[in-house]
Amino acid sequence: MNDHVTIRKARWTDKDLLFSWRNLPEIVALSASGKSVEYKEHLNWFKNYLDRCGLMFIIKNKNEPVGQLRFDKLDANKMAVTIYLIPNKTGQSIGRSAFNQGLDYLRKEVTLPIILVANIKDTNAPSIKFFKKLGFRMELKENQDGLLRYCFRVN
Ligand SMILES: CC(C)(COP(=O)(O)OP(=O)(O)OC[C@H]1O[C@@H](n2cnc3c(N)ncnc32)[C@H](O)[C@@H]1OP(=O)(O)O)[C@@H](O)C(=O)NCCC(=O)NCCS
Repeated sequence: MNDHVTIRKARWTDKDLLFSWRNLPEIVALSASGKSVEYKEHLNWFKNYLDRCGLMFIIKNKNEPVGQLRFDKLDANKMAVTIYLIPNKTGQSIGRSAFNQGLDYLRKEVTLPIILVANIKDTNAPSIKFFKKLGFRMELKENQDGLLRYCFRVN
């Protein structure tokens, strides 16, 4: 466990930080569209996201923002989980620590049980290993977007 990791809710003033991360080549490659976004498009998306009360956290390591963790409601008892760290911050247990803090938040704030769903590209071996190690199990080999679906029950 990395003791220097904290998470906090994202806020409107994170818009430029999130925009700079969104257009990093590594993050573009992970996105559903595979394309970078314009600033205006990003602002519209982020405003709508916050208005819908989406659950987004900024991950910090030694007080420096290093990534994003999201739980997006799919239905009454299902949430999609998304996580990324900026490139040179991977492989230091930051992801695991941030996810576990996200779980603590859900256990306090959300009506349980819920199922967390991670949709992962089949070519993203580190991410598959990451979610499996957290206890996620594969539920579907290919969803409608050609992604693997891994699930985790939060009690
Ligand atoms: C996926 C991601 C969030 C994992 O966070 P992380 O801090 O790098 O992972 P951790 O150091 O906490 O590792 C936890 C476990 O994941 C697995 N893992 C993490 N990185 C790995 C890698 N590069 N190769 C293989 N396994 C890896 C390991 O099993 C590791 O456990 P171990 O250290 O006991 O072997 C991070 O690597 C990342 O942001 N990747 C790019 C974005 C991405 O792919 N997001 C997921 C989209 S679905």
